[in-house]
Amino acid sequence: MNDKKLIITGLLIFIVIVVSPFLLNMGKASSGADPVIPEGLKEKKGECIFPKEEMKAEHMQILDKWRETVVRNGERVYVAPSGKEFNMSLSSGENSCIGCHSNKTEFCDRCHDYASVRPYCWDCHNEPKEKN
Ligand code: HEC
Ligand code: HEC
Ligand code: HEC
Repeated sequence: MNDKKLIITGLLIFIVIVVSPFLLNMGKASSGADPVIPEGLKEKKGECIFPKEEMKAEHMQILDKWRETVVRNGERVYVAPSGKEFNMSLSSGENSCIGCHSNKTEFCDRCHDYASVRPYCWDCHNEPKEKN
């Protein structure tokens, strides 16, 4: 009888030890990766090109398309499905990525560091001057 209790207790402890890293990571995945969206960004500068979840998943493809359009066609204005116009630039200017998300370190880099992605874009493109 006592042996059985011991075995069950041992099993429970084992399960908790095996499962806890996953539980701990679940918490991290949602808080650690959160980029800092500057206070009042929405109110002052308006909305992103697409809804947040879409931006999260597809901003690389958007930037890729922007680059192609600018370099091949010399066009610099992107009209979003919402009808709003954006400046197809990685580096600066009103209504460009960095024009709105002006704190690259806290916003872009922080999320990339967390995801272990290293966009090489800023080898050539100017690092934006940080405005906090
Ligand atoms: C080898 C240098 C180099 C690298 C690396 C590079 N670019 Fe560029 N990019 C350029 C040049 C040169 C232009 C043309 C500048 C112009 O016409 O204003 C350009 C233009 C662009 C443009 C449109 C205009 C602008 O000023 O932003 C976008 C968007 C862009 N690149 C995105 C990217 C992205 C995203 C990456 C990384 C995945 C990247 N680039 C990496 C050299 C580079
Ligand atoms: C007109 C201002 C504006 C421009 C231009 C803009 N954004 Fe945004 N972006 C926002 C706002 C505001 C949010 C927050 C949206 C929300 O909370 O619903 C956001 C959200 C995001 C998110 C999601 C962040 C998260 O919490 O997961 C990503 C990624 C992003 N933007 C990347 C970009 C990139 C890359 C570009 C350029 C290709 C860009 N944005 C251009 C205003 C802008
Ligand atoms: C919510 C997290 C998050 C934010 C915020 C974010 N990114 Fe990313 N970004 C990612 C992830 C994850 C990847 C890798 C996706 C993949 O490989 O499929 C990525 C990839 C990229 C790439 C392609 C890199 C490559 O080598 O192919 C570019 C360019 C890029 N991000 C630019 C930006 C810019 C500019 C900003 C800020 C305006 C930004 N990102 C903000 C998560 C984020």
